[in-house]
Amino acid sequence: MGDKQHPEAGNGKRIHRRKVLGGMCMVGMAVPALAPSAGQAQMPDPESLKPPQVNDVLVHAFGDDAGSVIAVDALAADSKQIFAWAMDPATGMVRSGSRLNQVVLIRVDPARMSEDTAARSINGLVAYSGVCSHTGCDVTDWNSEFLRFQCPCHESQFDPADGARVVGGPAPWQLAALPLKDIDGHVGVAGEFEGRVGFQQPGLSPFGI
Ligand code: FES
Repeated sequence: MGDKQHPEAGNGKRIHRRKVLGGMCMVGMAVPALAPSAGQAQMPDPESLKPPQVNDVLVHAFGDDAGSVIAVDALAADSKQIFAWAMDPATGMVRSGSRLNQVVLIRVDPARMSEDTAARSINGLVAYSGVCSHTGCDVTDWNSEFLRFQCPCHESQFDPADGARVVGGPAPWQLAALPLKDIDGHVGVAGEFEGRVGFQQPGLSPFGI
């Protein structure tokens, strides 16, 4: 399953709490966002700028399922990654205020996982920063022959079964890993990003957090 729509930066969306709690009880149910009222300031909510927080849940970032909470049994093994955002389940705030918060989620055969990767996984699912460490493109492509993420800009490749280490191309470091856990059958966040989120632009200081 792959999200065909190109990931894009967006202001954080606060989703009505009652709808979120209702949606949490129905796996895959879309959770609509409230539209800002006329004249409302468009500044991102500071909570939307925060990277994924412990006890957040992951929601689909794009496509028809955008905003719906992702179940721990979602996705077929070794199929293309999807993009996700973290959401505070208590408030419905989706942390999409910074594109550095975007996450790629994929299911990997546990038999291929490194020990560290297995420790961060839940039910075969692993998650990483979706921003390439080279010059910051979204890691949207999937190499189905070698089972690797592939960046469309300069073809860096990352192995999701082994900490998203760089296995090809010019990327200077692996994708930051996001530890996962099961929260009531949904993909939850078990810890902060491990590793460096952001990217390196030739001739400039590294950008990111
Ligand atoms: S931005 Fe990903 S390989 Fe260059």
